[in-house]
Amino acid sequence: MELRTPADHGLDGGPGESADRQSSDGAAVGLSRCLRQDELTLVGAREVAEPAAAGAATAADGRAPLLVVKGLSKQFPLRSGLLQRVGGMVNAVDNVDLRIAPGTTLGLVGESGSGKSTLARLVTRLIEPTAGSVVLNGTDITALRGPKLRRERQGMQMVFQDPYSSLDPRQSILEVVGEPLRIHTSMNSSERRRRVIELLRQVGIGPHVLSRQPHEFSGGQRQRVAIARALALEPGLLVCDEPVSALDVSTQSQVINLLSDLQDRLGLAYLFIAHDLSVVRHLSDRIAVMYLGQIIEEGDANEVYVRPTHPYTAALLSAIPVPDPHHQRSRPRIVLTGEVEMGQSAASGCRFRQRCPFAMDICATVDPEPFVTPSGTTVRCHLHTEGPTLAGATVAGLPARV
Ligand SMILES: Nc1ncnc2c1ncn2[C@@H]1O[C@H](COP(=O)(O)OP(=O)(O)OP(=O)(O)O)[C@@H](O)[C@H]1O
Ligand SMILES: [Mg+2]
Repeated sequence: MELRTPADHGLDGGPGESADRQSSDGAAVGLSRCLRQDELTLVGAREVAEPAAAGAATAADGRAPLLVVKGLSKQFPLRSGLLQRVGGMVNAVDNVDLRIAPGTTLGLVGESGSGKSTLARLVTRLIEPTAGSVVLNGTDITALRGPKLRRERQGMQMVFQDPYSSLDPRQSILEVVGEPLRIHTSMNSSERRRRVIELLRQVGIGPHVLSRQPHEFSGGQRQRVAIARALALEPGLLVCDEPVSALDVSTQSQVINLLSDLQDRLGLAYLFIAHDLSVVRHLSDRIAVMYLGQIIEEGDANEVYVRPTHPYTAALLSAIPVPDPHHQRSRPRIVLTGEVEMGQSAASGCRFRQRCPFAMDICATVDPEPFVTPSGTTVRCHLHTEGPTLAGATVAGLPARV
């Protein structure tokens, strides 16, 4: 393979030559050993618009939602000192509304401690909410208990970040994947074995592994096994809590491609959680951004990637590197200072204000209500309710003061 530059395909680029050069107009050009360099350059130039546009095409507006979450909240006691006295409450999830249509993906992103896992555990009813409701397939599962809850909950399954801790290390793969079938169906052992082989085939694993144990697999393979197990009862919704965060980049994309294929073949819906907007980009039809327990922006993936409406979303997007070094250097970058402070969620005003480059007086006293922009994005930010001109000029355009 010969080395090629994105800007000038006539440049000499013998094997081993790797330094950046200057083109005739002074712009830096790089050399790459990749036949698809042209495509990489194109993606860099268009930034994040391209893949998101594909996601928008699959959005399922108008279909009855599979999952409807209303006003969901969870408070945890804040304990301190030797005696672990309760000194206050943390609003880990605070009045969250969400909808997921069948066969679509809602990507949920936010920094560590923003409440993503708590929201996932509330949705799957692994923990009790302080307030709010979860309706799955038209059934309000919030008040269900015992066998009724177990039956309804089969319609959604969870995939965790660390498959090693979610799979019993003493069980064989046949037992791990077959366990939900043993507990929840009347299949006999040979029927279960056939179904487990079929489930493993769906995730790209052959039948020769049935007697192996989870520790004999790589991280990516273990995550495939965990996905096979989650699919055993044919759920309509998978709640995936950072399923690729512990994997290296190439294994991450294999697992994301697998989830995408499974969605096409089985019509699955996903609530897909990640720290970072770049991870959820290829899979998401809609994006929700979480900050200190609140959804501060929710909208069509294409809109959110191309025209972020909340300064926090804009900051997360500006942190995603693009593969063109020249373009990368010229991009505006919003650098957030400080960290997420849980205690702040109880204070008045906007909970992002102390890190916000656009904070106004009103932000210190009034918690912004959800506001729906003309493009259909729901945002909690006074920049939008206080003046559309300001919002358009500052947030979308990322001006010099950033
Ligand atoms: N069982 C609990 N008891 C008390 N506080 C809790 C409990 N579980 C979560 N929290 C608090 O709720 C907040 C949200 O935690 P959560 O694990 O949902 O965040 P997260 O967004 O999933 O973070 P990460 O990206 O690190 O996984 C944190 O401040 C956490 O300390
Ligand atoms: Mg988490």
